[in-house]
Amino acid sequence: MSKIKVAIIGVGNCASALVQGVYYYKQRAGEEPVGVVFPEIGGYKVTDIDFVVAFDVDEHKVNKDLSEAIFAPPNNALKIVDVPKLDVPVLKGPVLDGIDIHLKDTLIKISNEKEVDVAQALKDYGVEIAICYLPTGAVKAANYYAEQALKAGVAFVNAMPAPIASDETWQKKFMEANVPLAGDDVQNQVGATVVHKTLINLIDLRGARVENTYQINIGGTPDFANLEYRKEGKEKTKTRAVKQMASHDFQAFIAPVAYIKFLGCKKIAHMVIEGRKFAGVPFRIELMLEVYDPYNSAGMMVDVIRLVKLALDRGIGGPLISISAWAFKNPPVHASPYIAKQWVIEFIEGKRER
Ligand SMILES: NC(=O)c1ccc[n+]([C@@H]2O[C@H](COP(=O)([O-])OP(=O)(O)OC[C@H]3O[C@@H](n4cnc5c(N)ncnc54)[C@H](O)[C@@H]3O)[C@@H](O)[C@H]2O)c1
Repeated sequence: MSKIKVAIIGVGNCASALVQGVYYYKQRAGEEPVGVVFPEIGGYKVTDIDFVVAFDVDEHKVNKDLSEAIFAPPNNALKIVDVPKLDVPVLKGPVLDGIDIHLKDTLIKISNEKEVDVAQALKDYGVEIAICYLPTGAVKAANYYAEQALKAGVAFVNAMPAPIASDETWQKKFMEANVPLAGDDVQNQVGATVVHKTLINLIDLRGARVENTYQINIGGTPDFANLEYRKEGKEKTKTRAVKQMASHDFQAFIAPVAYIKFLGCKKIAHMVIEGRKFAGVPFRIELMLEVYDPYNSAGMMVDVIRLVKLALDRGIGGPLISISAWAFKNPPVHASPYIAKQWVIEFIEGKRER
């Protein structure tokens, strides 16, 4: 099988987990890939993913090899493997609104290196798929990189909440250029959103009524430090995802509430759902979920990369509906996890175009 050539935009914790995760499976080639939904997608295995270039703005990461940059501060994703030198450069992209003013010079130091021409670099390194792992709130930067991908004819995967795949104007542009687009905001493998969605969907399915729900999240990653100041986009994508799962409206409060440094790369979510069932009798569900957050997103991204590659192989451009509904919180079309998985299976089998 040919390799899949991937570029990373934002070498933070999610990128670290993705790169480490791919090497974890490369070191175990031939074994059953436990923790992966689809061992093979159109013949592609996780081990067929190759990183070819990356972009960042932090002086700890720019001009380093990707294998070093993923372990540079402030990244604090759990280290699970030693990644060999990859000969994959981390190039300086434009900063734009990438770094929140409160984190500049405290958590992140902006590199003085010259910015590269991103579209040209994508072409020079033969990139097929670019993954946007920019911080939440970096809307201008996300739009800039989407434009560069389009210019270079490279598929764009938006792992963060800025509206790109869910935006009609971007959908049209990628459709016209016949370039695949997936997003927005990764829905973690076993994360708070998918657990919350599943419970709401189940309650609805069983004829009960959700009256109100809340979900509060705390964590110690740089993502949480950023969310202290820029949580709006995240609140919107999470709340919309959960509210789509019932046939009636209900009150919902879903938010990241605190950066607690000593939690490191752990994230803890508390959820409460209250409602009424038969004869108007009330019920209450309370749940706590603790996860190593960056690996939760990487677990989905290894599917997304191979599914997008399949679209490229088939000459399918524009928004990828099934893949986005399966792996993202704010896709162009929402579906329950069961339906979205069925759509993805049909896409793999060639029964569904996108
Ligand atoms: N499980 C998860 O962690 C998860 C799940 C879903 C979505 N997300 C989203 O994915 C995104 C990435 O998460 P993360 O934990 O890796 O964040 P992070 O803060 O660890 O990494 C972001 C990286 O982007 C870099 N960056 C900032 N501005 C840039 C620019 N203009 N050009 C290039 N690089 C730039 C930063 O220096 C940093 O290395 C966030 O938006 C997050 O909300 C994460």
